[in-house]
Amino acid sequence: MITLLAQALDPEGPVADSAAGLWWLMLALGVAVFLVVGVVLVVGLFRSRPGDAPEAGPQPPDRFGPWLVGGGVALPLIVITVVFAATVDAMRDVPTTAPDGALVVEIVGHQWWWEVRYPAEGITTANEMHIPVGRPVALRLSSADVIHSFWVPALGGKLDLLPDKVNTLVLQADEPGRHVNRCAEFCGLQHTLMGMDVVAEPPEGFAAWVASRQLPAAEPAGANARRGLDVFLGSGGCASCHAVRGTVAAATRGPELTHVASRASLGAAAVPNTAEQRARWVSDPHTIKRGVAMPPADLSSGELADLVAYLDGLR
Ligand code: CUA
Repeated sequence: MITLLAQALDPEGPVADSAAGLWWLMLALGVAVFLVVGVVLVVGLFRSRPGDAPEAGPQPPDRFGPWLVGGGVALPLIVITVVFAATVDAMRDVPTTAPDGALVVEIVGHQWWWEVRYPAEGITTANEMHIPVGRPVALRLSSADVIHSFWVPALGGKLDLLPDKVNTLVLQADEPGRHVNRCAEFCGLQHTLMGMDVVAEPPEGFAAWVASRQLPAAEPAGANARRGLDVFLGSGGCASCHAVRGTVAAATRGPELTHVASRASLGAAAVPNTAEQRARWVSDPHTIKRGVAMPPADLSSGELADLVAYLDGLR
């Protein structure tokens, strides 16, 4: 939580910038009110000295009148009006429609991973999103099951992914950076392990990434990997849920895997994407992320090694 707050207060885009400005204003007002109340309290404590004769009967109302009107009505009214005006102003910085020239990315929330599609570029990937610096990005958010919520604190904005409606969130990154988004709406057992690697990079770097993702899967290199492809398409049952472009595997129930080995993390940012973790994930993903839809592999150790060798080549 502290990390997310730190990222939100280190804005790297215009939407995050205005949200962070609002946060600081509210903090400053909160601190000012706290100090005023603290001073009044301390003064009050020191004024009622022990030994003072208690005044008989109720206090005359006019003694408290100015405090009640000032502290109980005027001050809250001023503070709330200022915060309201600043909030409306910050909301105007959050675009509600995609500007011309925006990059369109479709994001579909699943329990518990992110499907990421670039319709104009013809790319589908999972749990990773690359965006070019300095160009608005229109995220079309929807869900395949329950409600999820998209939030990259450093880039600002936070919007729900609903099963029956497409919401549009427009973001922009002003500088290159790597961020991890976290699903921000409780969506079941592994809500906390529903993350996505978000990379903002210069336009050339983004174009290179798109070109690399547009390529079909690499041919299996070596005998192990070739046998691994057979396992993937056959006894492993992987192809009934996953797609690998360039093979007959085209299912869309689970994450697309054409370049899975070159992603930064595995299991929706659950663990780093190392060969060791890939083997662990394939043999039993529930040891990493209990409750995921993918079952443990029912394979011999040889078949498992071949399958992992094949996956290692999907870069
Ligand atoms: Cu998806 Cu929480």
